[in-house]
Amino acid sequence: MTAAQKKKGRILTGHRPTGPRHIGHLVGTLEQWAKMQDDYECFFLIADLHVLTTDHEHPKRIQTNIADVMIDWLAAGLDPQRATFVRQSALIEHSLLCNLFGMLTTVSRLERVPTYKDQIQQLNLNPSLGLLTYPVLQSADILIYKANIVPVGEDQLPHIELTREIARRFNSLYGKTFPEPEGLLTKTARLPGTDNRTMHNSYGNTIKLGDSEAQTTKLVMSMYTDPTRLRATDPGTVEGNPVFEYLDAFDTDKAEVEDFKVRYREGKVGDVEVKKRLAEVLNQYLAPLRERRTELVKKPDEVLRVLNEGTESARPLVEATAKEVLEKMGLR
Ligand code: TRP
Repeated sequence: MTAAQKKKGRILTGHRPTGPRHIGHLVGTLEQWAKMQDDYECFFLIADLHVLTTDHEHPKRIQTNIADVMIDWLAAGLDPQRATFVRQSALIEHSLLCNLFGMLTTVSRLERVPTYKDQIQQLNLNPSLGLLTYPVLQSADILIYKANIVPVGEDQLPHIELTREIARRFNSLYGKTFPEPEGLLTKTARLPGTDNRTMHNSYGNTIKLGDSEAQTTKLVMSMYTDPTRLRATDPGTVEGNPVFEYLDAFDTDKAEVEDFKVRYREGKVGDVEVKKRLAEVLNQYLAPLRERRTELVKKPDEVLRVLNEGTESARPLVEATAKEVLEKMGLR
């Protein structure tokens, strides 16, 4: 299908390359993105500049992380035949637009962005200018493609709201230039980590797409369950129990899941039995992805070529938008 036939519009979304992708990324985002590739013109962004907003002291791992994310993306079904992969730092126009949009954005507006407030509180850091302008760079990422739809997690919605404000402000000052992009939330509930906290690589509570079957089984067997249940004969709680949240997400045999739930509540099935089944289900679910992944790992050059060629094919588009913006703002 050619770009022109993809009638539903243009998507721009992306990840910061912070390390290998996990099953939370898969069910929350990657599966949704993969499905949209036929109906939308899709740009998938490796937001490497954004990594530096928190990690500029650790430059060593960035290139490896980019390769890891690309491998996991492709294994999850993102497809260079149907979508364009872009490396943010290689298209300097992203940074140029960030700079220009900065002229339309007040510092006080950026200081009210929830991700910014949370991060300086959590990390207890003295925020850099780069961290403050994080969402302006994200707005540039989106608007430079004139994207209509931005599939993201809920935490990102304030950034989409800022993007819409910048688009409106730009359009009203300089004439209609940008569509006001819509954020698109995933329908699936967010999976908890194996310890029932938020899933995050830095907590060591994730199942990574690249983990082996044995590693996956081990992680599942040590998963947090109902902590008040001491014996298999005690009645257990299913709600908010990650083992059952995972079963709901991955076991296609809904009758089996129901049966487990009934027996769990009645104290008629042990945690070990449920977990063993979950490990099987999860490994089955991930098997095709992991097969593709094993092949991709053997061809790192080809994987990077996908990213570099995608980036080059996007270059004329971002250059055209940058030129238009420079002209409209009186710099050309
Ligand atoms: N901020 C996004 C995240 O952490 C990553 C990102 C950067 C992004 N630029 C983007 C997402 C543009 C969507 C659109 O997940």
